[in-house]
Amino acid sequence: MEQAPKIVQVRKLYKIYDMGEEKVYALRDIHLDIRKGEICCIFGPSGSGKSTLLNQLAGLEKPTRGGVKICGQIISRMDENELAAFRQKHSGFIFQSYDLLPHFSALENVALPLMFAGVPLKERNKKAARMLRRVGLQKRMSHYPNQMSGGQQQRVGIARAFINTPEVVFADEPTGNLDSKSTKEVMEMMVAFAREYDQTLILVTHDKDMAAYADHIVTLHDGEIVQEEWKKEEEILI
Ligand SMILES: Nc1ncnc2c1ncn2[C@@H]1O[C@H](COP(=O)(O)OP(=O)(O)OP(=O)(O)O)[C@@H](O)[C@H]1O
Ligand SMILES: [Mg+2]
Repeated sequence: MEQAPKIVQVRKLYKIYDMGEEKVYALRDIHLDIRKGEICCIFGPSGSGKSTLLNQLAGLEKPTRGGVKICGQIISRMDENELAAFRQKHSGFIFQSYDLLPHFSALENVALPLMFAGVPLKERNKKAARMLRRVGLQKRMSHYPNQMSGGQQQRVGIARAFINTPEVVFADEPTGNLDSKSTKEVMEMMVAFAREYDQTLILVTHDKDMAAYADHIVTLHDGEIVQEEWKKEEEILI
């Protein structure tokens, strides 16, 4: 079987925090390839560098050294403006704390990426409503974040991340604040969306159960990749 193209390539990546007397090596000599359409899980204990790695891949932070190439572009060389434009065009984000805008309704939150992309109001509301129906929130469209449960807010977060079919969706502990039932729902929704349009999903977790959904598992320890595993098709849950 022909392999999918590499969508993320990381070479000799270091992230070093200078804390005066001491240097913290949050990432050390990372070499990583992620292929288009993969569900990639970054796994490891607290403090191992998972969020730091995700932030460098997503172009939210600048590496100290090394290169990150994503969707054919070397983002580690971009300035802040170029990075912001790149993120808006190519990626979606799902956060542990949902990060919805508090004064926007569920519908307005989901429609936000389309607004930045210049889609007219009527069309973006129509698309956002369709996404909210798909995540089972047809009765919550006009609710504000504080009028929804954690699981519902995260489903709004998923709808927002996927609405403009970005090539890569990044998620940092997306189920970290949820109970086991919501965790399963949220996980399965993210995977189903990603599979539909062959989008790449890169997610950080320290929950071993979530790794069961992944095609590719990257384990970090003290800022280094200590294990990399690819699952065979028949072993993947969805
Ligand atoms: N802004 C910063 N300044 C200094 N050190 C930092 C900074 N951000 C992270 N670190 C350090 O880098 C290391 C990796 O942190 P990171 O947040 O990536 O861990 P993590 O694997 O995501 O942990 P968790 O599961 O607790 O979220 C830790 O030792 C942390 O203390
Ligand atoms: Mg973290």
